[in-house]
Amino acid sequence: MSKIMVLNGPNLNLLGSREPEQYGHETLADVEAMCAAEAQRYGHEVECRQSNHEGALIDAIHEAGQRIKAGEMLGVVFNPGAYTHTSVALHDAIKGAEVPVIEVHISNVHTREAFRHHSYISPVAAGIVVGMGIQGYVLGIQGLIHKTS
Ligand code: DQA
Repeated sequence: MSKIMVLNGPNLNLLGSREPEQYGHETLADVEAMCAAEAQRYGHEVECRQSNHEGALIDAIHEAGQRIKAGEMLGVVFNPGAYTHTSVALHDAIKGAEVPVIEVHISNVHTREAFRHHSYISPVAAGIVVGMGIQGYVLGIQGLIHKTS
C-alpha cells in the first residue's frame, strides 16, 4: 500500500461556506472522505493536509519528495488555491523535490478573472484537473495512480 498526499492551500478550509456558487456546499472533510474512499478502491491510503501558509505547503511538498524516494508515497493531489497564481516558491519546490503533482482546481479558473488564468504550478505538474467541482480530487487521485503505477 502506498500513500497519496491530498494537499489543500489557502482558504480551502472554508469549503462549504466560502462562495458556494463557485465551490459548492461540500466541506473539506467531505472532500477528504471522498479521496480516502477513492484511494482505498486502488489499495492506497490518503494523507490529507491543509494550510493557509505558503511555507507550510512547501514543507509538505519537500516531505512528499522524501517519502516518494523512500518508496512509501506515490505523489500529491494539490489544490494550491490562490498561491497557484503567485508562487514561484511552490513551483520551485515541486521541481526541486521531483514530486509528481496533480494540480486540482474546483472551479474553472479560465472562465474567471484574468489573474486566475496563469498558474505557476501547471508547468511542473504531472497533470491538471480544472473545473470539475470537488469530483476533480477523485479524478486527480485516479490520474496520479495511472501516471505513477
Ligand atoms: C481554486 C481557484 C483559485 O483561483 C482560488 O484562489 C482558490 C480555489 C479552485 O479550486 O478553483 O482558492 O484553486
